[in-house]
Amino acid sequence: MQPYITYPSFGHAADEYGVTAATCIYIAEFGIAESARGKRLGSILLDFSQAHCPAETSSYLVRTLVKTYGTDAPNPAVRFYKKKGFRVVEHHGTGEPLIEIRSQRPRLFLRYDVRQP
Ligand SMILES: CC(C)(COP(=O)(O)OP(=O)(O)OC[C@H]1O[C@@H](n2cnc3c(N)ncnc32)[C@H](O)[C@@H]1OP(=O)(O)O)[C@@H](O)C(=O)NCCC(=O)NCCS
Repeated sequence: MQPYITYPSFGHAADEYGVTAATCIYIAEFGIAESARGKRLGSILLDFSQAHCPAETSSYLVRTLVKTYGTDAPNPAVRFYKKKGFRVVEHHGTGEPLIEIRSQRPRLFLRYDVRQP
């Protein structure tokens, strides 16, 4: 996890992703070894990381593949993040997911908004 503002490739897209750049945390390179998946480790690691983020954090953002790499199957990480309370970021006003093509592979964004007390 790293502050959104330190992630080099997003430029000025915070509005598009629906985040406040200064208080958003970007989740990069998050993964569990294949042999250890499905045992709640991802869940525990994500919960732990979120619990140790700055108190002023307003949102978490992650970008992930739409399909499992090299297949036509949906990427299970999308389900994982949804289970963790993330919502797919929509393209403004369309109700459709915001899709970004990188290295010829479509990716979507998921965002978790922190409820401030
Ligand atoms: C996505 C990933 C991090 C999830 O970690 P994990 O330890 O396997 O997930 P957990 O066991 O904590 O599962 C948490 C929830 O997500 C769901 N989930 C996780 N993997 C799933 C899968 N392959 N298919 C469907 N649901 C899945 C679980 O069903 C669980 O829901 P539940 O609370 O109803 O049981 C892990 O599978 C992974 O590293 N995948 C490959 C790399 C990757 O895609 N990383 C994300 C890049 S942004």
